[in-house]
Amino acid sequence: GSVLGVMDDMAKIPLTTIPQNYVRPEREPLFQTHHSTPLPTIPVLDLKCFFDSANVDREYQLHNLFSTCKDWGFFQVVNHGVSSGLLGQLKIEIEKFFQLPSEEKKKYQIRSGDVQGYGTVIRCKDQKLDWGDRFYAVINPLHRRKPYLVPQLPPSLRDTLEIYFREVRKLAMELLGLLAEAIKIEMKEVEELFDDGMQSVRMTYYPPCPEPELVVGLTPHSDATGITILHQVNGVEGLEIKKDGVWIPVSFLPDAFVVNVGDIMEILSNGVYSSIEHRAAVNKEKERISIAMFFNPKFEAEIGPFKSLITPHNPPLFKRILMEDYFKDFFSHNLNGKSHLERMKIKSE
Ligand code: SIN
Ligand code: FE2
Repeated sequence: GSVLGVMDDMAKIPLTTIPQNYVRPEREPLFQTHHSTPLPTIPVLDLKCFFDSANVDREYQLHNLFSTCKDWGFFQVVNHGVSSGLLGQLKIEIEKFFQLPSEEKKKYQIRSGDVQGYGTVIRCKDQKLDWGDRFYAVINPLHRRKPYLVPQLPPSLRDTLEIYFREVRKLAMELLGLLAEAIKIEMKEVEELFDDGMQSVRMTYYPPCPEPELVVGLTPHSDATGITILHQVNGVEGLEIKKDGVWIPVSFLPDAFVVNVGDIMEILSNGVYSSIEHRAAVNKEKERISIAMFFNPKFEAEIGPFKSLITPHNPPLFKRILMEDYFKDFFSHNLNGKSHLERMKIKSE
């Protein structure tokens, strides 16, 4: 689709009225429990056991990871190896970035025909908008970086991000290895796809909203990724996932990351791991900041169910497609639940 325009800065919106193009009458409410029954919440996995070679419970932990990726597609990780010092520095830097004057942030504005940069791509006249400002950029492979984006960020933010990109990449490769092991795929098959794979980042600032129930911070979608690693930067909650047909919130755990299985992992695992729909809600009083990192196979890779999983009894459920073409398809459509993954399914008669 062609780009009609780009929304750039939420700061320009007067905070007393909700403009019509932000109002979402179709928004499904959160699941209501009877008081006293708490809402279910996503599993928390302690990674310490996987990094400890003397661990005797590894098989059990892998099985737990397997069922979590199958039944939830979402989990939080603790003891992940990324230091809380780095996360603290990141919070300071990202907060400063979103507080920059509009003219400063304009330098990074999404350019016509592109999807990377600051702002939101507007594809059609009546497009509903999300209550948030975001910055999206490809960071790996290096030659795909836009010279006017990450390299031009304020130096202290850029330096902190570079360390963060590396550290989280290390964690992502470890997680991908574990996900593979849990489904009995050899690490080699994962490395062929993900070594020097496509990595991108999205930082989002969700301003407070006087009528948060009328809007959404991020439209429901599933991620077009292998895995996504999200950090809820300033401790304000807002992420919600659709579990068994109902929306439930994800809580904030200090120093934890939220990890989710993306569409590509659902494809690779031939539908065993689930890429589930999620959205972000906004808050009446508090601003919310998040940073999501997306880990994908390399652009040249062909994706499809892992060949070693396919048997006469377990035929492929998804088509094979080049990563490059997959991205083109993804970025030429608006976010819309799981419609993207649906297009990749092999239709049975
Ligand atoms: C967020 O929780 O702010 C973002 C969730 C997402 O990346 O889908
Ligand atoms: Fe997402």
